[in-house]
Amino acid sequence: MARLAGKIAIITGAAGGMGEAATLLFAREGAKVAAVDLDEARLAPVVEQIKAAGGTAIAIGADVSKTTDVERIVARTCAELGLPTVMFNNAGVDSEGKRCILDIDEAAFDKVVEINLKGVWLMIKHVAPKMIEAGGGSIVNTASIGAFVAASSAGYCASKAGVVGLTKAAAVELGRYNIRVNTLCPGATETPMARNQRAEMIAKGLPISNEIMDRLGVLGRMALPEEMAKMALFLASDDSSYATGADFINDAGWMAMCGVTVQPWSGGNHNRILKEYSDDDRHTFPRQGAPRRHQAEDRHPHSQFQRGTALGRPL
Ligand SMILES: NC(=O)c1ccc[n+]([C@@H]2O[C@H](COP(=O)([O-])OP(=O)(O)OC[C@H]3O[C@@H](n4cnc5c(N)ncnc54)[C@H](O)[C@@H]3O)[C@@H](O)[C@H]2O)c1
Repeated sequence: MARLAGKIAIITGAAGGMGEAATLLFAREGAKVAAVDLDEARLAPVVEQIKAAGGTAIAIGADVSKTTDVERIVARTCAELGLPTVMFNNAGVDSEGKRCILDIDEAAFDKVVEINLKGVWLMIKHVAPKMIEAGGGSIVNTASIGAFVAASSAGYCASKAGVVGLTKAAAVELGRYNIRVNTLCPGATETPMARNQRAEMIAKGLPISNEIMDRLGVLGRMALPEEMAKMALFLASDDSSYATGADFINDAGWMAMCGVTVQPWSGGNHNRILKEYSDDDRHTFPRQGAPRRHQAEDRHPHSQFQRGTALGRPL
């Protein structure tokens, strides 16, 4: 029995990466899918693939951070597919260009928060009444491990931490209507977003490489988008019928490895990553212009401990 048989799903950010993988998987599992993306042209091949395999899907070009677009997404889904019972809020962006809190401008910060956080709130606000009409549903919001640790830019981490908080509030409010709300928190996943970030860092001369990205987890490789789609499927389906208001971390131990930064004896990957990042003043104290205290300490056996804290020193 297909795990989403009879379900009608809206998936945002469906034109690439995790959203595309989830759209194809959800359709294979029997859902009728409304595939939403800002980039409408890239949705066409995804929807065609589903139709060719005998599934049902529609493409909706829309911006999740705009109320009128969100209203249109919900209206078209109801009119062409029926009442939605699954919502995968997956669309997201990272801050382009300047990422540091001292450099990022207001417009770039606003954009990340508008799409990643406000977009999720808008979708929930407009989809929930239809799910209530349908008798219930499952909402899956893509956050990130950046919601819990400083794994990306300040704006991105703030927006994803907001998604975690929003999810808990929505789960509590909507539980009485038989609507479950959870987050999927991916670690490093090989998608266009990750590839663009890597290219941007390389262009800036930062010591990043495929090999370093592969070490952001104990399995020694980045995730495939399909591995995130499978967890989204679990959360969207009745297989997770008792789960709500919870965060589902899928990161191959990246967050668990945060402790490894202060444990040289574990032979942890993070020690090597930190070592390479220590050449970038933005990631380690002291800031640009000040003496590079840690360079001398690199020869000291305790230097790894000292860089294992944000202040670059132990108590
Ligand atoms: N790739 C990673 O390592 C990683 C890690 C943690 C969390 N995430 C999160 O996972 C989600 C999917 O990321 P991905 O890596 O597949 O990214 P991606 O860039 O490959 O795909 C995101 C999609 O969202 C679309 N999109 C962007 N802004 C939109 C808007 N305003 N309205 C509608 N669609 C919009 C883009 O066009 C794109 O097709 C995002 O929320 C991202 O923040 C990614």
